[in-house]
Amino acid sequence: MAVRPERNRMNRNNARKGMAAIAAACAALALTAAAEHKRRYPELPEKITAETPAQRDARMAWWRDARFGMFIHFGLYAAPARHEWVRSVEGIDNETYDSKYLPRFNPDLFDADEWAAQAKRAGMKYIVLTTKHHEGFCMWDTKTTDYKITKTAFGRDLVREYVDACRRAGLGVGFYFSIMDWHHPDYTVDNPHPLMTRLRKEGKKGKELEDAVAALNATRNMDRYREYMHAQIRELLTEYGKIDIIWYDFTPVSEKFGKTYKDWDAVKVVKMTRELQPGAIINNRLDLMETEDGWDFICPEQFKVQIWPTVRGRRVPWETCQTFSGSWGYSRDETTWKGVHQLVELLVHSVSKGGNLIMNVGPTARGTFDDRALERLDGFAKWMKVNSRSIYGCTMAPDGFAAPDGAALTWNEKTGRLYIHLFDYPMGYLPVAFIDKVEYAQFLHDGSEIKFRAKPPLAEAADGEQFGVMGGMELPVVKPAVEIPVIECWLKQ
Ligand code: GLC
Repeated sequence: MAVRPERNRMNRNNARKGMAAIAAACAALALTAAAEHKRRYPELPEKITAETPAQRDARMAWWRDARFGMFIHFGLYAAPARHEWVRSVEGIDNETYDSKYLPRFNPDLFDADEWAAQAKRAGMKYIVLTTKHHEGFCMWDTKTTDYKITKTAFGRDLVREYVDACRRAGLGVGFYFSIMDWHHPDYTVDNPHPLMTRLRKEGKKGKELEDAVAALNATRNMDRYREYMHAQIRELLTEYGKIDIIWYDFTPVSEKFGKTYKDWDAVKVVKMTRELQPGAIINNRLDLMETEDGWDFICPEQFKVQIWPTVRGRRVPWETCQTFSGSWGYSRDETTWKGVHQLVELLVHSVSKGGNLIMNVGPTARGTFDDRALERLDGFAKWMKVNSRSIYGCTMAPDGFAAPDGAALTWNEKTGRLYIHLFDYPMGYLPVAFIDKVEYAQFLHDGSEIKFRAKPPLAEAADGEQFGVMGGMELPVVKPAVEIPVIECWLKQ
Protein backbone atom coordinates (compact mmCIF):
# COMPACT_ATOMS: atom_id res chain seq x y z
CA MET A 1 0.00 0.00 0.00
CA ALA A 2 1.32 3.40 -1.01
CA VAL A 3 1.94 5.74 1.93
CA ARG A 4 0.79 9.28 1.33
CA PRO A 5 3.62 11.86 1.21
CA GLU A 6 2.09 14.06 3.99
CA ARG A 7 1.77 10.98 6.20
CA ASN A 8 5.40 10.27 5.59
CA ARG A 9 6.39 13.81 6.50
CA MET A 10 4.32 13.61 9.67
CA ASN A 11 5.97 10.37 10.63
CA ARG A 12 9.39 11.86 10.01
CA ASN A 13 8.52 14.93 12.08
CA ASN A 14 7.14 12.82 14.87
CA ALA A 15 10.20 10.64 14.79
CA ARG A 16 12.39 13.75 14.94
CA LYS A 17 10.35 15.11 17.85
CA GLY A 18 10.55 11.74 19.55
CA MET A 19 14.30 11.62 19.11
CA ALA A 20 14.63 15.12 20.49
CA ALA A 21 12.51 14.18 23.49
CA ILE A 22 14.63 11.08 24.10
CA ALA A 23 17.83 13.12 23.76
CA ALA A 24 16.47 15.70 26.22
CA ALA A 25 15.47 12.96 28.66
CA CYS A 26 18.91 11.38 28.35
CA ALA A 27 20.62 14.71 28.96
CA ALA A 28 18.41 15.27 32.00
CA LEU A 29 19.22 11.80 33.27
CA ALA A 30 22.92 12.37 32.74
CA LEU A 31 22.59 15.62 34.67
CA THR A 32 20.80 13.92 37.55
CA ALA A 33 23.36 11.15 37.55
CA ALA A 34 26.17 13.70 37.64
CA ALA A 35 24.45 15.59 40.45
CA GLU A 36 24.02 12.32 42.30
CA HIS A 37 27.71 11.65 41.85
CA LYS A 38 28.57 14.95 43.45
CA ARG A 39 26.06 14.84 46.24
CA ARG A 40 28.27 14.14 49.24
CA TYR A 41 31.75 14.80 47.94
CA PRO A 42 31.74 17.37 45.11
CA GLU A 43 35.53 17.14 44.86
CA LEU A 44 35.59 13.43 44.05
CA PRO A 45 36.24 12.46 40.43
CA GLU A 46 33.46 10.48 38.81
CA LYS A 47 35.96 8.08 37.26
CA ILE A 48 39.20 6.94 38.84
CA THR A 49 40.49 4.68 36.09
CA ALA A 50 40.14 4.54 32.31
CA GLU A 51 38.33 1.20 32.34
CA THR A 52 35.13 1.09 30.26
CA PRO A 53 31.90 -0.47 31.57
CA ALA A 54 32.31 -3.31 29.04
CA GLN A 55 35.84 -4.04 30.28
CA ARG A 56 34.62 -4.06 33.85
CA ASP A 57 31.82 -6.38 32.93
CA ALA A 58 34.26 -8.82 31.36
CA ARG A 59 36.57 -8.60 34.39
CA MET A 60 33.71 -9.59 36.67
CA ALA A 61 32.22 -12.33 34.52
CA TRP A 62 33.80 -15.28 36.39
CA TRP A 63 32.65 -13.90 39.74
CA ARG A 64 29.10 -13.34 38.56
CA ASP A 65 28.92 -16.86 37.19
CA ALA A 66 30.42 -18.32 40.38
CA ARG A 67 27.59 -16.97 42.55
CA PHE A 68 28.77 -18.69 45.72
CA GLY A 69 31.82 -18.09 47.87
CA MET A 70 33.20 -18.67 51.35
CA PHE A 71 34.18 -15.95 53.78
CA ILE A 72 36.67 -16.91 56.47
CA HIS A 73 37.09 -14.70 59.53
CA PHE A 74 40.17 -15.82 61.37
CA GLY A 75 42.34 -13.85 63.74
CA LEU A 76 43.37 -13.52 67.38
CA TYR A 77 39.69 -13.03 68.23
CA ALA A 78 39.16 -16.78 67.75
CA ALA A 79 40.70 -17.17 71.23
CA PRO A 80 38.26 -15.04 73.25
CA ALA A 81 35.69 -16.77 71.01
CA ARG A 82 32.97 -14.20 71.54
CA HIS A 83 32.76 -12.21 68.31
CA GLU A 84 35.49 -10.50 66.30
CA TRP A 85 34.31 -7.17 67.72
CA VAL A 86 35.06 -8.31 71.26
CA ARG A 87 37.61 -5.50 71.73
CA SER A 88 35.12 -2.85 70.73
CA VAL A 89 32.15 -4.30 72.59
CA GLU A 90 34.04 -4.79 75.84
CA GLY A 91 36.43 -1.84 75.48
CA ILE A 92 39.60 -3.96 75.69
CA ASP A 93 42.84 -2.01 75.32
CA ASN A 94 45.94 -3.22 73.44
CA GLU A 95 47.87 -4.28 76.52
CA THR A 96 45.10 -6.44 77.98
CA TYR A 97 44.28 -8.06 74.64
CA ASP A 98 47.84 -8.76 73.64
CA SER A 99 49.07 -10.02 76.99
CA LYS A 100 46.22 -12.52 77.19
CA TYR A 101 45.89 -13.86 73.69
CA LEU A 102 49.15 -13.30 71.81
CA PRO A 103 51.29 -15.71 73.83
CA ARG A 104 48.61 -18.39 73.59
CA PHE A 105 47.54 -18.11 69.98
CA ASN A 106 48.55 -21.24 68.10
CA PRO A 107 46.20 -22.69 65.46
CA ASP A 108 48.17 -25.92 65.38
CA LEU A 109 45.47 -27.92 63.60
CA PHE A 110 45.25 -25.46 60.70
CA ASP A 111 45.31 -27.16 57.31
CA ALA A 112 44.75 -24.82 54.38
CA ASP A 113 44.02 -27.67 51.99
CA GLU A 114 41.29 -28.89 54.31
CA TRP A 115 39.67 -25.42 54.37
CA ALA A 116 39.80 -25.23 50.59
CA ALA A 117 38.42 -28.76 50.25
CA GLN A 118 35.48 -27.89 52.49
CA ALA A 119 34.67 -24.82 50.42
CA LYS A 120 34.91 -26.76 47.21
CA ARG A 121 32.73 -29.59 48.43
CA ALA A 122 30.07 -27.08 49.46
CA GLY A 123 30.04 -25.79 45.87
CA MET A 124 31.78 -22.51 46.62
CA LYS A 125 33.98 -21.11 43.87
CA TYR A 126 36.06 -18.59 45.78
CA ILE A 127 37.22 -17.78 49.29
CA VAL A 128 37.84 -14.44 50.97
CA LEU A 129 40.06 -14.61 54.06
CA THR A 130 40.62 -11.91 56.67
CA THR A 131 44.28 -10.97 56.28
CA LYS A 132 43.79 -8.36 59.02
CA HIS A 133 40.61 -7.57 60.89
CA HIS A 134 39.78 -4.47 62.92
CA GLU A 135 41.89 -5.80 65.80
CA GLY A 136 44.94 -5.02 63.62
CA PHE A 137 46.61 -8.44 63.89
CA CYS A 138 48.24 -9.52 60.62
CA MET A 139 47.81 -13.07 59.39
CA TRP A 140 50.70 -12.78 56.95
CA ASP A 141 54.43 -12.26 57.32
CA THR A 142 54.35 -8.51 56.89
CA LYS A 143 57.41 -6.31 57.08
CA THR A 144 55.35 -3.40 58.38
CA THR A 145 54.91 -4.64 61.97
CA ASP A 146 55.73 -7.38 64.44
CA TYR A 147 52.06 -7.67 65.29
CA LYS A 148 51.73 -10.71 63.06
CA ILE A 149 51.19 -14.43 63.03
CA THR A 150 54.78 -15.33 62.23
CA LYS A 151 55.75 -13.89 65.63
CA THR A 152 53.43 -16.27 67.49
CA ALA A 153 54.03 -19.87 68.53
CA PHE A 154 52.41 -20.88 65.24
CA GLY A 155 55.20 -19.16 63.33
CA ARG A 156 53.89 -19.71 59.78
CA ASP A 157 52.56 -17.34 57.12
CA LEU A 158 48.93 -18.44 57.16
CA VAL A 159 47.95 -16.21 54.25
CA ARG A 160 50.58 -17.80 52.01
CA GLU A 161 49.40 -21.32 52.85
CA TYR A 162 45.83 -20.26 52.22
CA VAL A 163 46.64 -18.73 48.83
CA ASP A 164 48.57 -21.81 47.71
CA ALA A 165 45.77 -24.13 48.84
CA CYS A 166 43.09 -22.12 47.01
CA ARG A 167 45.12 -22.24 43.83
CA ARG A 168 45.66 -25.99 44.15
CA ALA A 169 41.90 -26.42 44.58
CA GLY A 170 41.09 -24.12 41.63
CA LEU A 171 39.29 -21.62 43.85
CA GLY A 172 39.31 -17.83 43.44
CA VAL A 173 41.58 -16.15 45.99
CA GLY A 174 40.21 -13.25 48.00
CA PHE A 175 41.72 -10.99 50.64
CA TYR A 176 39.64 -9.19 53.23
CA PHE A 177 41.60 -6.27 54.63
CA SER A 178 40.42 -4.05 57.47
CA ILE A 179 41.15 -0.41 56.83
CA MET A 180 40.16 0.26 60.43
CA ASP A 181 42.85 -0.69 62.92
CA TRP A 182 42.27 -0.66 66.66
CA HIS A 183 45.82 -1.61 67.46
CA HIS A 184 47.88 0.96 65.59
CA PRO A 185 49.02 3.85 67.83
CA ASP A 186 48.37 6.41 65.08
CA TYR A 187 44.87 5.30 64.20
CA THR A 188 42.55 7.94 65.58
CA VAL A 189 39.85 6.98 68.04
CA ASP A 190 36.49 6.88 66.29
CA ASN A 191 33.05 5.50 67.13
CA PRO A 192 33.79 1.77 66.98
CA HIS A 193 37.23 2.07 68.63
CA PRO A 194 37.71 0.10 71.88
CA LEU A 195 38.99 3.23 73.64
CA MET A 196 35.76 5.01 72.72
CA THR A 197 33.84 2.19 74.40
CA ARG A 198 35.95 2.73 77.49
CA LEU A 199 35.19 6.42 77.61
CA ARG A 200 31.51 5.72 77.20
CA LYS A 201 31.63 3.05 79.87
CA GLU A 202 33.16 5.65 82.16
CA GLY A 203 29.98 7.62 81.57
CA LYS A 204 31.50 10.36 79.45
CA LYS A 205 29.24 12.14 76.99
CA GLY A 206 28.78 15.47 75.24
CA LYS A 207 31.61 17.95 75.62
CA GLU A 208 33.39 15.81 78.17
CA LEU A 209 33.52 12.92 75.70
CA GLU A 210 34.67 15.20 72.90
CA ASP A 211 37.52 16.50 75.02
CA ALA A 212 38.57 13.04 76.11
CA VAL A 213 38.62 11.81 72.49
CA ALA A 214 40.58 14.90 71.43
CA ALA A 215 43.11 14.23 74.17
CA LEU A 216 43.57 10.63 73.00
CA ASN A 217 43.88 11.72 69.39
CA ALA A 218 46.39 14.48 70.10
CA THR A 219 49.28 12.07 69.67
CA ARG A 220 47.67 10.02 66.90
CA ASN A 221 48.38 10.79 63.30
CA MET A 222 46.31 9.42 60.43
CA ASP A 223 48.98 10.41 57.88
CA ARG A 224 51.35 7.96 59.47
CA TYR A 225 48.66 5.30 59.80
CA ARG A 226 47.74 5.76 56.15
CA GLU A 227 51.31 5.17 55.09
CA TYR A 228 51.42 1.99 57.16
CA MET A 229 48.11 0.81 55.75
CA HIS A 230 49.09 1.53 52.15
CA ALA A 231 52.34 -0.36 52.65
CA GLN A 232 50.39 -3.34 53.96
CA ILE A 233 48.04 -3.30 51.00
CA ARG A 234 51.00 -3.04 48.63
CA GLU A 235 52.57 -6.10 50.24
CA LEU A 236 49.41 -8.14 50.00
CA LEU A 237 48.94 -7.17 46.37
CA THR A 238 52.51 -7.86 45.30
CA GLU A 239 53.81 -10.77 47.39
CA TYR A 240 51.09 -13.37 46.82
CA GLY A 241 50.60 -13.61 43.07
CA LYS A 242 47.27 -12.98 41.41
CA ILE A 243 44.52 -11.97 43.80
CA ASP A 244 40.96 -12.23 42.53
CA ILE A 245 38.97 -10.28 45.11
CA ILE A 246 39.87 -7.51 47.57
CA TRP A 247 37.41 -6.84 50.33
CA TYR A 248 38.16 -3.54 52.08
CA ASP A 249 36.30 -3.10 55.35
CA PHE A 250 35.06 -0.47 56.32
CA THR A 251 34.51 3.28 56.65
CA PRO A 252 32.65 4.13 59.86
CA VAL A 253 30.85 7.12 58.39
CA SER A 254 29.10 9.31 60.94
CA GLU A 255 28.84 13.01 61.64
CA LYS A 256 30.65 12.75 64.92
CA PHE A 257 33.68 10.53 65.56
CA GLY A 258 33.45 9.06 62.08
CA LYS A 259 35.73 8.65 59.09
CA THR A 260 35.48 9.25 55.37
CA TYR A 261 37.28 8.15 52.22
CA LYS A 262 39.82 10.90 52.92
CA ASP A 263 41.10 9.14 56.00
CA TRP A 264 42.25 6.23 53.82
CA ASP A 265 43.09 8.31 50.73
CA ALA A 266 40.73 5.80 49.19
CA VAL A 267 41.22 7.07 45.66
CA LYS A 268 44.88 6.20 45.97
CA VAL A 269 43.98 2.80 47.41
CA VAL A 270 41.80 2.06 44.39
CA LYS A 271 44.42 3.29 41.93
CA MET A 272 47.05 1.15 43.60
CA THR A 273 44.77 -1.88 43.63
CA ARG A 274 43.92 -1.49 39.94
CA GLU A 275 47.56 -0.98 39.06
CA LEU A 276 48.95 -3.91 41.05
CA GLN A 277 46.05 -6.31 40.51
CA PRO A 278 44.20 -5.22 37.37
CA GLY A 279 41.98 -8.28 37.43
CA ALA A 280 40.87 -7.97 41.05
CA ILE A 281 37.28 -7.25 42.02
CA ILE A 282 36.73 -4.69 44.82
CA ASN A 283 33.79 -4.30 47.19
CA ASN A 284 32.31 -0.94 48.13
CA ARG A 285 33.32 -0.03 51.66
CA LEU A 286 35.94 2.61 50.94
CA ASP A 287 33.28 5.34 50.99
CA LEU A 288 33.59 5.91 47.24
CA MET A 289 30.00 5.29 46.17
CA GLU A 290 29.96 8.71 44.52
CA THR A 291 32.52 7.50 42.01
CA GLU A 292 31.66 5.21 39.13
CA ASP A 293 34.59 2.83 39.52
CA GLY A 294 35.87 3.11 43.09
CA TRP A 295 33.98 -0.12 43.69
CA ASP A 296 32.81 -3.11 41.65
CA PHE A 297 30.00 -4.57 43.72
CA ILE A 298 27.93 -3.70 46.73
CA CYS A 299 27.83 -5.98 49.74
CA PRO A 300 24.59 -5.95 51.75
CA GLU A 301 25.42 -7.56 55.07
CA GLN A 302 23.29 -10.09 56.92
CA PHE A 303 19.93 -9.41 55.34
CA LYS A 304 17.95 -10.94 52.51
CA VAL A 305 17.86 -8.64 49.51
CA GLN A 306 14.32 -8.21 48.21
CA ILE A 307 14.93 -6.51 44.88
CA TRP A 308 17.99 -6.25 42.68
CA PRO A 309 19.82 -3.22 44.17
CA THR A 310 20.38 -0.15 42.00
CA VAL A 311 22.84 2.73 42.16
CA ARG A 312 21.93 5.93 40.32
CA GLY A 313 19.14 4.04 38.61
CA ARG A 314 21.30 1.19 37.33
CA ARG A 315 21.22 -2.41 38.55
CA VAL A 316 24.60 -3.20 40.05
CA PRO A 317 26.53 -6.38 40.83
CA TRP A 318 26.01 -7.43 44.43
CA GLU A 319 27.02 -10.04 46.94
CA THR A 320 25.37 -10.54 50.29
CA CYS A 321 27.69 -11.61 53.09
CA GLN A 322 26.16 -13.85 55.72
CA THR A 323 27.02 -15.79 58.83
CA PHE A 324 25.80 -19.17 60.00
CA SER A 325 25.23 -17.87 63.51
CA GLY A 326 25.41 -14.08 63.68
CA SER A 327 29.09 -13.76 64.54
CA TRP A 328 31.87 -13.65 61.93
CA GLY A 329 34.70 -14.73 64.17
CA TYR A 330 34.38 -18.04 66.04
CA SER A 331 31.77 -17.62 68.76
CA ARG A 332 31.58 -20.64 71.01
CA ASP A 333 28.40 -19.80 72.90
CA GLU A 334 26.39 -18.43 70.01
CA THR A 335 23.25 -20.53 69.65
CA THR A 336 21.31 -18.85 66.85
CA TRP A 337 22.57 -21.05 64.05
CA LYS A 338 20.57 -21.12 60.84
CA GLY A 339 19.42 -24.47 59.52
CA VAL A 340 20.38 -26.00 56.17
CA HIS A 341 16.99 -25.26 54.64
CA GLN A 342 17.25 -21.56 55.53
CA LEU A 343 20.79 -21.41 54.18
CA VAL A 344 20.12 -23.09 50.85
CA GLU A 345 17.06 -20.88 50.50
CA LEU A 346 19.29 -17.86 51.10
CA LEU A 347 21.62 -18.92 48.31
CA VAL A 348 18.80 -19.52 45.85
CA HIS A 349 17.06 -16.33 46.88
CA SER A 350 20.22 -14.30 46.26
CA VAL A 351 20.74 -15.72 42.78
CA SER A 352 17.05 -15.21 42.00
CA LYS A 353 17.63 -11.46 42.55
CA GLY A 354 20.78 -11.41 40.43
CA GLY A 355 23.33 -11.59 43.27
CA ASN A 356 26.04 -13.67 44.92
CA LEU A 357 26.21 -15.18 48.38
CA ILE A 358 29.37 -15.32 50.45
CA MET A 359 28.86 -17.56 53.46
CA ASN A 360 31.12 -17.16 56.45
CA VAL A 361 32.99 -19.67 58.57
CA GLY A 362 34.80 -18.60 61.74
CA PRO A 363 37.45 -21.22 62.47
CA THR A 364 38.32 -22.11 66.08
CA ALA A 365 41.54 -20.94 67.71
CA ARG A 366 43.02 -24.35 66.88
CA GLY A 367 42.46 -23.53 63.20
CA THR A 368 39.58 -25.90 62.44
CA PHE A 369 35.98 -25.54 61.33
CA ASP A 370 33.74 -26.56 64.22
CA ASP A 371 31.10 -29.28 63.89
CA ARG A 372 28.19 -26.89 63.57
CA ALA A 373 29.84 -25.21 60.60
CA LEU A 374 30.78 -28.54 59.05
CA GLU A 375 27.20 -29.73 59.34
CA ARG A 376 25.95 -26.67 57.42
CA LEU A 377 28.67 -26.94 54.81
CA ASP A 378 27.70 -30.55 54.37
CA GLY A 379 24.10 -29.44 53.78
CA PHE A 380 25.28 -27.12 51.03
CA ALA A 381 27.50 -29.87 49.60
CA LYS A 382 24.65 -32.38 49.36
CA TRP A 383 22.36 -29.86 47.73
CA MET A 384 24.90 -28.37 45.36
CA LYS A 385 26.13 -31.77 44.20
CA VAL A 386 22.91 -32.31 42.29
CA ASN A 387 21.51 -28.78 41.94
CA SER A 388 24.43 -26.46 41.17
CA ARG A 389 23.17 -26.07 37.60
CA SER A 390 20.45 -23.78 38.92
CA ILE A 391 23.10 -21.58 40.61
CA TYR A 392 26.26 -21.29 38.49
CA GLY A 393 25.87 -18.88 35.59
CA CYS A 394 22.30 -18.11 36.66
CA THR A 395 20.50 -14.90 37.45
CA MET A 396 17.07 -13.36 37.86
CA ALA A 397 14.35 -14.74 35.58
CA PRO A 398 13.29 -12.50 32.69
CA ASP A 399 10.16 -10.36 32.91
CA GLY A 400 6.97 -12.30 32.38
CA PHE A 401 7.96 -15.22 34.59
CA ALA A 402 6.32 -15.09 38.00
CA ALA A 403 7.45 -17.61 40.61
CA PRO A 404 4.76 -19.98 41.94
CA ASP A 405 3.79 -19.51 45.60
CA GLY A 406 6.54 -20.58 47.98
CA ALA A 407 9.09 -20.85 45.19
CA ALA A 408 11.86 -18.82 43.55
CA LEU A 409 13.12 -18.77 39.98
CA THR A 410 16.60 -18.58 38.56
CA TRP A 411 17.51 -18.50 34.92
CA ASN A 412 20.53 -19.33 32.84
CA GLU A 413 20.70 -16.82 30.06
CA LYS A 414 23.16 -18.89 28.00
CA THR A 415 21.27 -22.19 28.03
CA GLY A 416 17.88 -20.51 28.26
CA ARG A 417 16.80 -22.89 31.04
CA LEU A 418 14.62 -21.78 33.89
CA TYR A 419 14.73 -23.25 37.40
CA ILE A 420 11.87 -23.44 39.87
CA HIS A 421 13.04 -23.91 43.48
CA LEU A 422 10.37 -25.35 45.74
CA PHE A 423 10.91 -23.81 49.17
CA ASP A 424 7.48 -25.04 50.26
CA TYR A 425 6.82 -28.37 48.67
CA PRO A 426 3.28 -28.44 47.22
CA MET A 427 0.63 -31.12 47.62
CA GLY A 428 1.25 -32.82 44.33
CA TYR A 429 0.01 -30.17 41.92
CA LEU A 430 2.04 -27.01 41.27
CA PRO A 431 0.19 -24.18 39.51
CA VAL A 432 2.60 -22.39 37.15
CA ALA A 433 1.57 -19.08 35.58
CA PHE A 434 3.95 -19.43 32.63
CA ILE A 435 3.20 -23.06 31.87
CA ASP A 436 2.39 -22.26 28.22
CA LYS A 437 6.05 -21.30 27.74
CA VAL A 438 7.41 -24.60 29.02
CA GLU A 439 8.54 -27.23 26.52
CA TYR A 440 9.92 -29.87 28.90
CA ALA A 441 10.42 -30.15 32.65
CA GLN A 442 12.36 -32.44 34.95
CA PHE A 443 13.57 -32.65 38.52
CA LEU A 444 17.14 -31.44 38.49
CA HIS A 445 18.42 -33.84 41.17
CA ASP A 446 17.55 -37.03 39.27
CA GLY A 447 16.64 -35.89 35.77
CA SER A 448 13.17 -37.44 35.98
CA GLU A 449 10.46 -36.05 33.74
CA ILE A 450 7.72 -33.91 35.23
CA LYS A 451 4.44 -33.92 33.40
CA PHE A 452 2.55 -30.71 33.04
CA ARG A 453 -0.74 -29.52 31.64
CA ALA A 454 -1.71 -26.25 30.08
CA LYS A 455 -5.14 -26.50 31.70
CA PRO A 456 -5.82 -27.12 35.37
CA PRO A 457 -6.95 -30.55 36.57
CA LEU A 458 -10.68 -31.12 36.08
CA ALA A 459 -10.66 -28.52 33.32
CA GLU A 460 -11.85 -31.19 30.92
CA ALA A 461 -14.89 -31.81 33.06
CA ALA A 462 -15.70 -28.22 33.81
CA ASP A 463 -14.37 -24.78 33.22
CA GLY A 464 -11.04 -24.85 35.08
CA GLU A 465 -11.19 -21.25 36.03
CA GLN A 466 -14.02 -21.83 38.41
CA PHE A 467 -11.62 -23.85 40.54
CA GLY A 468 -9.36 -20.85 40.86
CA VAL A 469 -6.36 -22.76 39.61
CA MET A 470 -4.23 -22.57 36.52
CA GLY A 471 -2.17 -24.88 34.38
CA GLY A 472 0.78 -26.43 36.09
CA MET A 473 2.94 -29.40 36.95
CA GLU A 474 2.14 -32.80 38.38
CA LEU A 475 4.62 -33.59 41.10
CA PRO A 476 4.87 -36.65 43.32
CA VAL A 477 2.92 -36.08 46.53
CA VAL A 478 5.88 -37.18 48.61
CA LYS A 479 8.69 -34.63 48.58
CA PRO A 480 11.88 -36.06 47.06
CA ALA A 481 14.76 -36.43 49.53
CA VAL A 482 16.33 -33.10 48.58
CA GLU A 483 16.37 -30.11 50.93
CA ILE A 484 14.89 -27.83 48.29
CA PRO A 485 13.79 -29.66 45.12
CA VAL A 486 14.45 -27.90 41.82
CA ILE A 487 12.53 -28.21 38.57
CA GLU A 488 14.54 -27.58 35.44
CA CYS A 489 12.50 -26.22 32.53
CA TRP A 490 13.33 -26.05 28.86
CA LEU A 491 11.42 -23.15 27.40
CA LYS A 492 9.74 -22.99 24.02
CA GLN A 493 11.80 -20.97 21.56
C1 GLC B 1 31.58 -5.73 59.14
C2 GLC B 1 32.13 -6.04 60.43
C3 GLC B 1 32.77 -7.29 60.50
C4 GLC B 1 32.76 -8.23 59.38
C5 GLC B 1 32.27 -7.70 58.12
C6 GLC B 1 31.85 -8.69 57.09
O1 GLC B 1 31.09 -4.58 58.90
O2 GLC B 1 32.81 -4.99 60.99
O3 GLC B 1 33.26 -7.70 61.67
O4 GLC B 1 34.05 -8.52 59.09
O5 GLC B 1 31.56 -6.60 58.12
O6 GLC B 1 31.01 -8.18 56.16
